[in-house]
Amino acid sequence: MPPVETHLISIDPQAIDLSLIERAANCLKNGGLVAFPTETVYGLGANALDEPAVAKIFAAKGRPPSDPLIVHIATLAEIHRVAVQIPPVASQLAARFWPGPLTLVLQRHTQVPARVSAGLSTVAVRMPSHPVAQALLQAAGLPIAAPSANRFTRPSATTAAHVLEDLGGEVDIIIDGGTASIGLESTVVDLTTTPATILRPGGIAPEDLRLFVPDIQVKARYWEGEEATPSPGMLLKHYAPRAELRLFSGEREAVLRAMYEAVLMLHAEKKAVGLLLAEEDRAFFADLKVPQQVLGAQSNMVQIGYNLFAALRYLDTQGVDVIVGRMFESAGLGLAISDRLLRAASGRVIYVSSS
Ligand code: TXA
Ligand code: MG
Repeated sequence: MPPVETHLISIDPQAIDLSLIERAANCLKNGGLVAFPTETVYGLGANALDEPAVAKIFAAKGRPPSDPLIVHIATLAEIHRVAVQIPPVASQLAARFWPGPLTLVLQRHTQVPARVSAGLSTVAVRMPSHPVAQALLQAAGLPIAAPSANRFTRPSATTAAHVLEDLGGEVDIIIDGGTASIGLESTVVDLTTTPATILRPGGIAPEDLRLFVPDIQVKARYWEGEEATPSPGMLLKHYAPRAELRLFSGEREAVLRAMYEAVLMLHAEKKAVGLLLAEEDRAFFADLKVPQQVLGAQSNMVQIGYNLFAALRYLDTQGVDVIVGRMFESAGLGLAISDRLLRAASGRVIYVSSS
């Protein structure tokens, strides 16, 4: 497809300019593509009820048609426009977590084109809390299908600059509404299975969902209980920087020593190396002159999640061949962080023991 002219517009979430929102809403109504901020990551939106517009999303991202999209709604009433046979637990979860970083998989309403859901009879639905996303949904008066606004397999976009980098010349409008406040995508919960299943860990922790759905199962493709399944063949490369990510896991001191040695070895191989660290790790690597990104204190999963995708993208801009990093605790938001790190590393983790 020939490149389109991409217009970048800034909207202050605290003082929304409704004339700019109107312009973006009209673009959606006319079958265009609008990238917009949400509290999780930026989304690449199209009218969910307009099949040709939805097809453009897949083309713009280079996303395979087998990967279904999330449909965003502004109000609870709108759920009936996109889904049917909604179970009572959906209302309970929506009442507690919407608007917010939770996506519910429900039975798809026939007026939602099958293409949105990659041909599945289900549909993923989310009500975002970001004021700009809310204003856009309301002005358009439409459900908006929107995957994360990155090129397929790249780290998700948490700023408008990331969107421009990946999708400039592919989308009609990019709305800059500041940095996404969570920085990790929504938790995807399938309510069409018994028991309900977490298909993708995200911004709502499994522990919080369990208060409402005690028997919920974590069935993220690459997670079994607390530990990653070390079977790289099963793992889809996703959220990945251009550089190879080499991840270490195990007792902290041993992990840091192994990371340090890995940097020296890679340097001996004439490879450019970047480091992905926790605040506490920084001193250990102080004498190494390599680009590094500090994600946050190792116990602060909110901070680590907020910085993760931007850090991976930043290290890529430094032209490194290999990023050396480590795993974190997988409780709470840590499950989503571990999931994204693992996928960025195509599932490869180096387990180190302390002896
Ligand atoms: O936070 C988010 O969820 C962001 C913002 C923009 O809302 N969106 C997002 O979309 O991350 P995307 O397309 O990058 O990820 C959607 C996820 C995929 O893992 C997809 O497989 C799953 O949701 N999904 C969508 N529809 C589904 C369905 N009907 N059944 C099962 N999984 C589904
Ligand atoms: Mg995505």
